Amino acid sequence: MSFSASQIRKDFPIFERTVRGGKRLVYLDSGATSQKPISVIDAESDFYKLHNAAVHRGAHQLAEEATDAYEGARQIVADFLGAPGGADEIIFTKSATESLNLLAYAMGNAPIGNRFALKNGDRIVVTEMEHHANLVPWQQLCARTGADLAWFGVTDDGRLDLSNINEVITPNTKVVSLTHQSNVLGTINPLSEITTRAHEVGAIVVLDACQSVPHMAVNVETLGVDFLAFSGHKTLGPTGVGILWGRKDLLDELPPFLYGGSMVQSVDMTGATWAAVPQKFEAGVPNMAQAVGLGVALKYLTQLGMDNVSAHEHALTGYLLEKMSLISDLTVVGPTNNLSRGSAISFTLGNIHPHDVGQYLDSQGVAVRTGHHCAWPLAKRMQVPATTRASLYVYNDESDCDVLIDAIQGASKYFGGR
Ligand code: ALA
Repeated sequence: MSFSASQIRKDFPIFERTVRGGKRLVYLDSGATSQKPISVIDAESDFYKLHNAAVHRGAHQLAEEATDAYEGARQIVADFLGAPGGADEIIFTKSATESLNLLAYAMGNAPIGNRFALKNGDRIVVTEMEHHANLVPWQQLCARTGADLAWFGVTDDGRLDLSNINEVITPNTKVVSLTHQSNVLGTINPLSEITTRAHEVGAIVVLDACQSVPHMAVNVETLGVDFLAFSGHKTLGPTGVGILWGRKDLLDELPPFLYGGSMVQSVDMTGATWAAVPQKFEAGVPNMAQAVGLGVALKYLTQLGMDNVSAHEHALTGYLLEKMSLISDLTVVGPTNNLSRGSAISFTLGNIHPHDVGQYLDSQGVAVRTGHHCAWPLAKRMQVPATTRASLYVYNDESDCDVLIDAIQGASKYFGGR
């Protein structure tokens, strides 16, 4: 299909409204959360209107329909990621943050002898460009187990520094967990060198794919990772649903995280045994309507074609980077070329505080994010207290970039080029 962002915008009711006194909404904050097409909004509300029941429990038609819809969504996710073990490898969580916490916490529950058990002297490797959600859970796991945390640094131009890969990923490394695409810099990390070295020493590779799954074709087999997390709400889907994918044999061995109904095989007054995956990790009545909404979102993206989505964003990122390069007091924080980078572009504007820039852009109808973007160590590394970030998606086009550029120039003038 030919890719038309203005046509796509018609599927998203939010673009019918205006902001700040009648201005067209220029939404450049999809890195924080994406907007939702009407098909997703309808799917979530139709679930409640027509099929609502607790899945995997009731002996009635609604329960059967709800279960079919929920398990159907699981299959859609498995197909979308190319999960080799199919739908059993897909765990619904409430967010990618929960997915990563689930993994880290469950590993902390692993008894001695289990392949996930960590001890003093073992190592977990992350990078300096991680979102807090892929850093703090691992810090906590290290604190619980005595493992040490090591990380890859970031170069001045916002790339991973892999020059010391063999010293960072040591033979006692058990986990390497990294972002596929930085939510701040836009950098797309090279994975094959990392997965090769990690697997050489017997470590598992965990991918935070929150900023890649929505924007490019991601196939877990091709990437060669062992676990992957992404969030529904950045992927045109509802809030309140995230995904943890893991290789079946690994999920089989990983201990549960939450205990309760649905995740057990048998229970007596002194103990319990666990259900098979994925149920082992889905205690309680799950987020059914949200999972169904996510399934519809992934179908919508599949219809657009993920290669078309990434080609569209790549072209638009190139256009915006070029325009930004012509603004003398603007500095891009992250790769300034359009190689191996996604469409999140962070920048500073002279000495103007990013919050002031964000507020001025908002007054012009342009929605961006400002701050450290939940990646505080990275902000420190890049020596910026905060940045302004524009992030693009399927419904953005050159006209949005033009409005942003005009507004940035307006901010520069308004604040007197401070
Ligand atoms: N992690 C989201 C962001 O980067 C919220 O904005």
